[in-house]
Amino acid sequence: MSSNSQYEKYKSDGSLLGALLEWVDVRFPATALWRSQVGEYYAPKNFNFWYFFGSLALMVLVMQIVTGIFLVMHYKPDGSLDANGIRVAFASINYIMYDVPWGWLIRYMHSTGASAFFIVVYLHMFRGILYGSYRKPRELVWVLGVLIFLCLMAEAFMGYLLPWGQMSFWGAQVIINLFSAIPLVGEPLSVWIRGDVNIGDATLNRFFSFHVIAVPLVLLGLVAAHLIALHEVGSNNPDGVEIGKHTNEKGIPLDGIPFHPYYTVKDIVGVVVFLALFSIVVFFVPEGGGYFLEYNNFFQADPMKTPPHIAPVWYFTPFYSMLRAMVWNFFWVEAKFWGVVAMGAGVVILAFLPWLDRAPAKSIRYRGPIFKTLLAIFVFGFLILGFLGTKVPGYKIFGVSWLDGDIIAQIFTVYYFLFFLTMPLWSKIDKCKPVPERVTWK
Ligand code: HEM
Repeated sequence: MSSNSQYEKYKSDGSLLGALLEWVDVRFPATALWRSQVGEYYAPKNFNFWYFFGSLALMVLVMQIVTGIFLVMHYKPDGSLDANGIRVAFASINYIMYDVPWGWLIRYMHSTGASAFFIVVYLHMFRGILYGSYRKPRELVWVLGVLIFLCLMAEAFMGYLLPWGQMSFWGAQVIINLFSAIPLVGEPLSVWIRGDVNIGDATLNRFFSFHVIAVPLVLLGLVAAHLIALHEVGSNNPDGVEIGKHTNEKGIPLDGIPFHPYYTVKDIVGVVVFLALFSIVVFFVPEGGGYFLEYNNFFQADPMKTPPHIAPVWYFTPFYSMLRAMVWNFFWVEAKFWGVVAMGAGVVILAFLPWLDRAPAKSIRYRGPIFKTLLAIFVFGFLILGFLGTKVPGYKIFGVSWLDGDIIAQIFTVYYFLFFLTMPLWSKIDKCKPVPERVTWK
């Protein structure tokens, strides 16, 4: 029996649950919403592994909010020194780790959760590129996704300041100082962002406020809009064909299956596997070898002592590499400013993808050799940029003098932008295979 007829049965069987549903339905479109968004939302029947990451992103979002709520119960956004000479914010994190029952678990779930969020979202975005999910009619789903990605970056950046460790402090110092490179308004702008001439209590308080309420509210709104937009146009699939083109007499897509129970059950499998892997990290390697929580952040913030090597957390490093790759002063404006421009443009350019890609086929299954080759180099380059962003300037890969990290980062930064900017040309001439009318299914 389908979930919908089950629902009708409840409403007519005279049970208390049925009466309650009936009562709610007269006052709120509960059944209608369930039906349109879940029970009678027909998704393509050929979803694969790559389609796990949307629901996983949703789950990690909920996990971050719930663990965040418990952290806020004990955390204190205060940069001053306590009676023992420890910064209050830093001490409150230690209190959570050592004294609050299960506090360590909540904290590690939240800090590891941040990295998990980015892993899941990067894979989710990559799926969009593999199958051309950003193409018409899903441009807005994609653009909203890019806005979500920007919000996530802001959220993670501000959250990282809160433990008030050395990397929290100096990482924020480096990034906010970059704004001072903007001509004319740079200096007052960076003071305005910090709320002080240096990172201080004012910065900590405003970052706390943004991290716990302002950005999460925007994020939740954007995620809701992302899903509403997706359900308006329907999901894409690994074949990149529109299932709405072939429907039965009731208008139901021939290649569609109801989201519930088919994909709710499939997604639960994804959640279980994810939680198993996530638990291994949380219980055995919560710092992720210094990539999820940097070792220097176990020392409290000391404005008088700059750490020898300041690098952002791994999920920012590809864009941080782009920033460092800009070493030229153009138009009498210092290189630092162009670095900021490159870093910002690296994210913003993603939003234009729906209009840059002109290939007749959406999915990689039917796209030509140019796309496949350029995409493979793009992924390799992005990973190398990420790796180099964690290293000191002047780093030599494998210690080999001619494998100069700075030059390699410049090459892949140029490649990153050229991949997008030249896409209208190469995507048009690439030899695509014929796209089937209906989804393929083995
Ligand atoms: C908090 C972050 C996010 C959440 C919770 C989220 C959630 C979801 C969910 C539940 C789906 C439907 C299931 C699926 O197709 O996997 C989806 C689809 C989609 N998302 Fe996201 N998303 C997030 C971020 C992003 C980002 C950053 C982008 C791209 C920049 C993006 C682009 C897309 C696209 C294009 C689709 C449609 C895919 C298709 O139909 O093939 N999303 N998202």
